[in-house]
Amino acid sequence: MQSADVASYAFAVPANVYAETVVQVRHYTDTLFSFRITRPQAFRFRSGEFVMIGLPNAEKPVFRAYSIASPSWDEEIEFFSIKVPDGPLTSHLQKIRPGDTVLMRQKATGTLVLDALTPAKRLFMISTGTGIAPFASLSRDPETFEKFEQIVLTHTCRDHAELAYGVELFEGLKADPLIGELTEGRVTLYSTTTREASPRMGRITRLIEDGHIFADLGINGLDPETDRIMICGSMAMLNDVKQIVEARGFEEGSNNKPASFVVERAFVG
Ligand code: A2P
Repeated sequence: MQSADVASYAFAVPANVYAETVVQVRHYTDTLFSFRITRPQAFRFRSGEFVMIGLPNAEKPVFRAYSIASPSWDEEIEFFSIKVPDGPLTSHLQKIRPGDTVLMRQKATGTLVLDALTPAKRLFMISTGTGIAPFASLSRDPETFEKFEQIVLTHTCRDHAELAYGVELFEGLKADPLIGELTEGRVTLYSTTTREASPRMGRITRLIEDGHIFADLGINGLDPETDRIMICGSMAMLNDVKQIVEARGFEEGSNNKPASFVVERAFVG
């Protein structure tokens, strides 16, 4: 039975769709929440990929792309979502409760994967808003730490409260019995706000261009010899960061042609 707000529909689950059970929901702000669902045994994905998810509340359910926020070894699947008041999916999805059913198409895909980057020393994961989701997956994957010595995760939001998911993720790494030791001292979380006053402010684009972030981190800057970059957030942010890193000699990679940076739009529904 779906909870009242996500009324169940006489719905036959199509062959290429999993129907999974919600196990946890966490609301961070009026506009952000995360949830975890059961993981189908046969479901495989690479950390950083996205899937299409929906609700069994209509004859033809609305599906939206969601980056998987949990690592590929996790027994559950986690997502981090925005709440859009009149969004065709998120206006309903934000009301889910443990025990409800979420639909998930069986195929995961995406470009924010380790396979799309050539080897290097340091990985920058640059995100705004819910764009942090694929990095929540990758920063909990041991393979990331096999491939890179250091990880810098940047997360920029308008307000301080919106940074909570990233802070929790970062604190959770230290406490994690499986990957705590492996990740210790190797991940830096660089959170900034752009509207609400906070200890660290500014768009990531400005902080890169004026060198503020590098001064804060005590490093020289972005170097295509030693660094790789993954970018996930709004379209405007992607385009601006892409321009900045291309001007510094970085080349966009893909699954077929690994290179020094990759981008993915954060999905809103
Ligand atoms: P700003 O507040 O200056 O617009 P949104 O909530 O609109 O998706 O934005 C999430 C975060 O991304 C905000 O902090 C926002 O800053 C920032 N942002 C939006 N556009 C860009 C851009 N073109 N380059 C860098 N950061 C951006």
